[in-house]
Amino acid sequence: MNAPIEAAQSRNDGTERRPRIFCDNLLGGRIALITGGSSGIGLGIARLYAELGATVVILGRREERLASAIDQLSGEMPDAELVALAVDVRNHLAIRDSVNGVIQRFGRLDILINNAAGNFHCPTEDLSENAWRTVIDIDLHGTFNCCQAALAGLKASAHGGRIMNITVPQALSGWPGSAHAASAKAGVLSLTRSLAVEWGGYGIRVNNVLPGPIAGTEGLKRLYEDRGTAVHEMKRMALGSFGLVDDIANACAFLASPGGDFVTGCDFMVDGGRWLKRGWV
Ligand code: HXC
Ligand code: NAP
Repeated sequence: MNAPIEAAQSRNDGTERRPRIFCDNLLGGRIALITGGSSGIGLGIARLYAELGATVVILGRREERLASAIDQLSGEMPDAELVALAVDVRNHLAIRDSVNGVIQRFGRLDILINNAAGNFHCPTEDLSENAWRTVIDIDLHGTFNCCQAALAGLKASAHGGRIMNITVPQALSGWPGSAHAASAKAGVLSLTRSLAVEWGGYGIRVNNVLPGPIAGTEGLKRLYEDRGTAVHEMKRMALGSFGLVDDIANACAFLASPGGDFVTGCDFMVDGGRWLKRGWV
């Protein structure tokens, strides 16, 4: 293994943070709902949002993972306002009712982050119909379900509602071995652009955030590390290292803040230049 790459990987274990760049209470008074907020990138966004003064609702399927995330965050920030919602984004009616409960409780919803997703490596010729459908259902239908359920709350935001959809650069290029996820995320890219126009009149900004490989996450583990391709993938990073959870959280904080007031329908690539380097290893 190339020594500098090995060193970079061992530094990047998922716990490393970026220096705080935002002013105190940047997101004070905002109610933010983060799907898939119990681990990885979603948990990192929840942590930064809570640090910046938002009330944070994290949503996922498993109660125990949500409880553990809430324990972790409230241990770090005893004054943070945190709520857990155990629901599957694929269940249209359950999402409608749960999100409506949040809107009723707080009177609005200021920010929705669609981050929950499913992915695994599987060549398309081996993919069962149910495997294909499962990933499309979580990533694309789940995003639609949450956007539609959140609309009334986002309309009521005094700051101009925000939706950030977490996609992936391979939604643009295609992804051999993960055609299901790339296709679903490409659908999300397009949904974002449609909603940016349809809901712009309500003051709602809708943007895509496209992370490159992020250290210490389940996605990186199952797509690269478990398959022994992490070193090869790191060579494809223009900046020479994988990203940190904070890199995506920072992008989402900017877009949720007044800094994002004039930004809608954009693809915010946060990938260390990987998509441009491609085969240039
Ligand atoms: C082939 C697989 C498979 C695999 C599941 N299936 N895993 N097929 N290879 N590795 C098939 C199953 O056999 C089944 O098909 C169908 O998919 C549904 O599987 P279930 O286990 O019943 O589904 P479910 O319990 O709903 O779980 C969904 C899941 C699971 C997507 C399969 O992995 C999950 O919950 N993932 C959430 C977390 C996650 O994926 N995080 C990573 C996101 S990272 P049959 O035909 O047998 O019924 C990401 C980008 C990463 O998105 C970028 C890295 C750089
Ligand atoms: P992760 O740690 O596996 O987190 C997935 C989260 O989604 C968990 O909280 C999970 O909780 C929840 N979830 C999964 N299926 C759900 C469902 N059907 N309904 C509700 N919640 C569900 O993932 P990650 O690696 O941080 O990735 C997060 C996002 O970033 C994804 O959108 C992914 O595509 C994107 N992304 C990641 C990378 C990366 O390097 N990791 C790169 C590019 C893009 P439960 O299992 O309890 O439901």
